[in-house]
Amino acid sequence: MTAMTRMNTDQQQYTQQQERLGQIVDLESYPIHDLEHPVTKELIARCKQQLDDVGCSVIANFVRPEAQERMRLEARRLMPCLFRSEQKHNPYMTKEDERLPDTHPNRYLQRRTAGFINTDIIPPESDMLAMYDNDIMTRFIGACLGIWPIYTWADPLARCPYGVLEHGDYFPWHFDGNEFTVSVSVEQPEEGGTFEYAPNIRSVENENIEGINRVLNGDKEGVYELEWKPGYLQLFKGRYALHRVQEVKGSGAWITALPTYMTDPDTVNRPEHSKQFYGRALPIHFEREANRPDNLAD
Ligand SMILES: [Fe+2]
Repeated sequence: MTAMTRMNTDQQQYTQQQERLGQIVDLESYPIHDLEHPVTKELIARCKQQLDDVGCSVIANFVRPEAQERMRLEARRLMPCLFRSEQKHNPYMTKEDERLPDTHPNRYLQRRTAGFINTDIIPPESDMLAMYDNDIMTRFIGACLGIWPIYTWADPLARCPYGVLEHGDYFPWHFDGNEFTVSVSVEQPEEGGTFEYAPNIRSVENENIEGINRVLNGDKEGVYELEWKPGYLQLFKGRYALHRVQEVKGSGAWITALPTYMTDPDTVNRPEHSKQFYGRALPIHFEREANRPDNLAD
């Protein structure tokens, strides 16, 4: 292939990606295909600022209503294949340490029930997957996060699933182990499902056990509620922000697409983790486990 034909092919691919993305994302309001566009520059600057200040940024009406409805119907169609799991965990998602006083947050265990619609059963023509496997989107997310390069993920089950909470389900207070998460709301329940977060409640220098305990015991000071509606995109840095999704009640469900971006695209979930959260492990999970560069816990 000559340099000229390669350039033409790249250009063609980019145009195709832009066209497909334009069916899903409102590129008139958010021209993210052009990172130099003043509107995009301002949007990226706003996201960065909010992530720096409170670790959370939301872009309202990011997904077109008709695309969001297609995603919702897709998730609804796949609900019979939902894998539900239940676990008790502390805010750090670590093992309980019985040597610590029982007032320590490490000993504060809450029940989490939730489900995933795994990525490998989502049809390839899905709007959600088309948005995810799109270089324009990856570049934009990377720019907002101020992290580059980032990649879409190799884990066939967990790369871009739908997370689902139904009546009675609850995702309790916790910190994230990963650096950042991206989510898109697809359906909101009749009641509950509110995302709450206490930004910067801890830092590398200050573990702030007291402050964490206050929030765990119901103090709302310093706790924000996210305005979260179908079609909204959220970028979140949850290592220092204690956060939860309130119990879901009534009809409808909390359905959120979780497009996962990584700085290391090749590492996949450990087989045990995959079985526990996604219901199964695939050959790739075992193969990569055997070739892991380190032996760190997840
Ligand atoms: Fe989280």
